[in-house]
Amino acid sequence: MKFFIDTANLDQIKEAQALGVLDGVTTNPSLMAKEGITGTENILQHYVDICNIVDGDVSAEVIATDFAGMVKEGEALAALHPQIVVKLPMIADGVKACKYFSDKGIRTNVTLIFSVGQALLAAKAGATYMSPFIGRLDDISTDGLHLISEIRHIYDNYGFETEILAASVRHTMHIIDCAKIGADVMTGPLSAIKGLLKHPLTDSGLAQFLKDYQKGN
Ligand code: G3P
Repeated sequence: MKFFIDTANLDQIKEAQALGVLDGVTTNPSLMAKEGITGTENILQHYVDICNIVDGDVSAEVIATDFAGMVKEGEALAALHPQIVVKLPMIADGVKACKYFSDKGIRTNVTLIFSVGQALLAAKAGATYMSPFIGRLDDISTDGLHLISEIRHIYDNYGFETEILAASVRHTMHIIDCAKIGADVMTGPLSAIKGLLKHPLTDSGLAQFLKDYQKGN
């Protein structure tokens, strides 16, 4: 399973990249705003900065909600850097734009997926990635992980190549459960990725090893 970090914070992206397990980055307008990145020029430059930190794919989201606007913005985003993946919302014009980009060989990530029907449409439109938001489904007492397993089943039935990018991942168990189900990618906060490191027996075991080493030296 690929590990993407879901942030526009450059320090966190650098930290995840330095850990050596990062495969890409996802962003969205809310994450950009959280970092105080506003204005088209600054936002575009920020995408380039992110691409220069990581080796993998960087999702950059369009703001337009009409087909022509998405095509214009998406083409400009894709031209920024070879690592950019154009992120499109799961609305009718987003599906049309996904098909347009797919036919042109421009990679896409269809976002705001909350149902298997939407997942089918994204795959049919040739999306490179599609992002089901599991945490937001959990927030409304719906099983986000169940959606991932249903999409996995359907995609495997037909050999769809669209990658399931589990998004709105909030904690370490989401990551582990996504890996069990067979999500292709998960995107989550640095805290969830680093949370995978933690085990008290690792800490106590290491402390004991160091203590025993000191005895003999
Ligand atoms: O990747 C989607 C993500 O940014 C949404 O996460 O925690 O706002 O639901 P969250």
